[in-house]
Amino acid sequence: MTEIIMTGPLMAYAADQLKARFTVHELWKAEDRAAMLKEIGGKVRGVAGGGAHVRIDGALFDALPKLEIVANFGVGYDTVDAKEAGKRGLIVTNTPDVLTDEVADLALGLLLATVRQLPQVDRYLRAGKWLEKAYPLTTSLRTRKVGIVGLGRIGKAVAQRIEAFGLPVSYHGRTRQADVPYRYYASLIEMAADVDTLISVAPGGASTHHMINADVLKALGPNGIVINVGRGSVIDEQALIEALKNKVILSAGLDVFEDEPRVPAELIAMDHVVLLPHVGSASVHTREQMGQLLVDNLVSWFDGKGPLTPVAETPWKKA
Ligand code: NAP
Ligand code: 8YV
Repeated sequence: MTEIIMTGPLMAYAADQLKARFTVHELWKAEDRAAMLKEIGGKVRGVAGGGAHVRIDGALFDALPKLEIVANFGVGYDTVDAKEAGKRGLIVTNTPDVLTDEVADLALGLLLATVRQLPQVDRYLRAGKWLEKAYPLTTSLRTRKVGIVGLGRIGKAVAQRIEAFGLPVSYHGRTRQADVPYRYYASLIEMAADVDTLISVAPGGASTHHMINADVLKALGPNGIVINVGRGSVIDEQALIEALKNKVILSAGLDVFEDEPRVPAELIAMDHVVLLPHVGSASVHTREQMGQLLVDNLVSWFDGKGPLTPVAETPWKKA
């Protein structure tokens, strides 16, 4: 059987299918990973990337001279050095589309939770405080103007939902998108100055690192709300903490963080933010679809039919 490595745990739904089709080496379980790689590295032809917290890069590729394909569990693949993979003639696949609506739904839930303080209101009721007096009035979604950072698949699905809520949408990204009616800003800081709600759905990596910084937060202003369902590295987290502390902006709703699963104690101590443990795609339905696409990519590749969803850095042309 073809031998592959799983770098981290995958849900049984996907892992069981992989084990039925391949000889699977569970790298994260090895007490001495270097020794395991030395022993099996020469036979391994595929990697299934499980979880967002293990780097798959040149060092791993060096240890796997027969490697052909890396199948990443997730649409974001900032933990995979895809450029290096491309240089070496490897294929990297991800899991686009199957999670788009789930993550967009979560983004809207997080926006509403942040604006209307839903977790805080829930805590208020449970603490018996309603018996004393009504919860204070909150801010509103009604007059908000939304700027989306990264109008890709998920960004567009978020935009559709924001439109359905009756709010104006604009966006910032590397390029103007064809066929969208929303206002485009080539400058993020200019967009931040014109809106009061930023929703980031941008990928991680060097080109987006800390693009939402102190200046952008200042431009957003004291009524500003930042929602992040993209990658934690896109926001300068320390600048965000300072902005929240000093009321430079109003609030934030975060599903992703710079150093997951560690979340800064200062954020945890704040009652006027909403914090989620990276659950954008985390429903049984959607995680199964993601797992299936990961499996299908590996099976299709080793059946000689090419990858199903290769990333841009490792394009695939049918012969
Ligand atoms: P996508 O279709 O590739 O969209 C990414 C968008 O970001 C594109 O519009 C792209 O612009 C833009 N972008 C890329 N680099 C940029 C830069 N340097 N500056 C400005 N904009 C930039 O990807 P997707 O499927 O929507 O997923 C987006 C991201 O969401 C993933 O990469 C992942 O990090 C995150 N995500 C999070 C969760 C969660 O659980 N919270 C779940 C799924 C995904 P171009 O059009 O110019 O390429
Ligand atoms: C996953 C994600 O939770 O797809 C992505 O980019 O961030 C999420 O869907 C994650 O990749 C799994 O670790």
